[in-house]
Amino acid sequence: MAQASSSSFDKALAVASGVVLGLGARALWDRVRAGSACAGSGGGGKPRSLEQLVRPNIWGLKPYRCARDDFDSGVLLDANENSMGPPCANADAFERYPSPYQWELKALVARHRGVAKENVFVGVGSDEAIDMLLRIFCVPGRDSILITPPTYGMYKVCAVTNDVGLVEVPLTPGGGTAGAAGFQLRVAAILEAVAEARGAVKIVFACTPGNPTSRMLSRADIVALLEAPGYDGIVVADEAYIDFAPEGASLSELVREYPRLIVLQTMSKAFGLAGIRCGFALGDEAVVEVLNKVKAPYNMNKLTSRVAQAAFAEIAKLRANIGVVLGERARVAAALEALPSVGAVHHSDTNFLLFEVAHAHAVYDTMAHAGVVVRYRGTETHCAGCLRATIGTREENDAFLAMLAKTAASLAAADDAKKAAQQ
Ligand SMILES: Cc1ncc(COP(=O)(O)O)c(C=O)c1O
Repeated sequence: MAQASSSSFDKALAVASGVVLGLGARALWDRVRAGSACAGSGGGGKPRSLEQLVRPNIWGLKPYRCARDDFDSGVLLDANENSMGPPCANADAFERYPSPYQWELKALVARHRGVAKENVFVGVGSDEAIDMLLRIFCVPGRDSILITPPTYGMYKVCAVTNDVGLVEVPLTPGGGTAGAAGFQLRVAAILEAVAEARGAVKIVFACTPGNPTSRMLSRADIVALLEAPGYDGIVVADEAYIDFAPEGASLSELVREYPRLIVLQTMSKAFGLAGIRCGFALGDEAVVEVLNKVKAPYNMNKLTSRVAQAAFAEIAKLRANIGVVLGERARVAAALEALPSVGAVHHSDTNFLLFEVAHAHAVYDTMAHAGVVVRYRGTETHCAGCLRATIGTREENDAFLAMLAKTAASLAAADDAKKAAQQ
């Protein structure tokens, strides 16, 4: 690991601890460099270093090395490829493995997100990074992650798959319509749960904007978690939907200030490239190095890399597309609010709307069978009676609104008839 990276990791821990000790950041940083203990977190002692947070087997892992790490041109007979090539079109020298480093793509991501290319991990969707982070930090059968329901389901799936414990601290209830506060972190309750787990919580997952909540989390709350002396683990801010949120909302630039912050982003949402499977983890260089060490050597394929790079050359078009989605979001939200069977339409910072509707499950089911598929979220915490609908094209949105109005009206009429028969 590069010396500078481990230093920045320790420096931020020192600054966070300085709050408790009432020492200046400079003085504390000097103490840490001198090797003296500071008041800490994660069970009352000194905050754990990155080395102490990462599973020992991972920290000591020697990464897979291929001959092409050292030599990548000449007569290449080192990787058991087929020099004859494929029987189909061969645009990108497909007979050769892709670059394990992806520096060109990382440079584009870095420039777009205001970080250095060394802060970027490239993965097969952000789902790959979520699973890797659990495998890197959490000892199966011993450690836990903390999630804040209602939230993205894969955190739990990865925890169960990896035999990692799950601590759940629900968000505040949804505030309903635009302007009202809601679906926010309960920072004090999170810190209480972390303290109770006595150092076992290695990662807190904060989905911002949230899925299915559709709302940004408060930046101050995430910074409070990062600076709390009672928590020394990793904070993952999952920003899959960040490009639909107001300009400047991303936490990506904070990864250079807070080495325990990892920001996840993806090309699956605003970039409209769910089919290529490309996502990113932005983090401290030392954390990214560990991710790179653990990943499969050629996780990013040539086709995906080429399309992703082409997309970064079209940022003006990306912004225009996002503008269209946001316009449609406002139109669909207004139309939903006008429907008598629809209750709260939650404020959205994403490309979907979460809303309450009478007979939510029956509405969902009837619509799906008629060809308009949305997501029933009524079993999620704070989401009773809620559906989640993605903003589509204007035509798709019109079809959705028309089908919803028709279905909700017929279910309401059936309900009225049933009640009348019972009287
Ligand atoms: C909050 C959140 N994070 C991550 C993902 C996964 O994204 P990807 O397609 O990059 O794996 C999704 C997908 O729906 C999501 O909603």
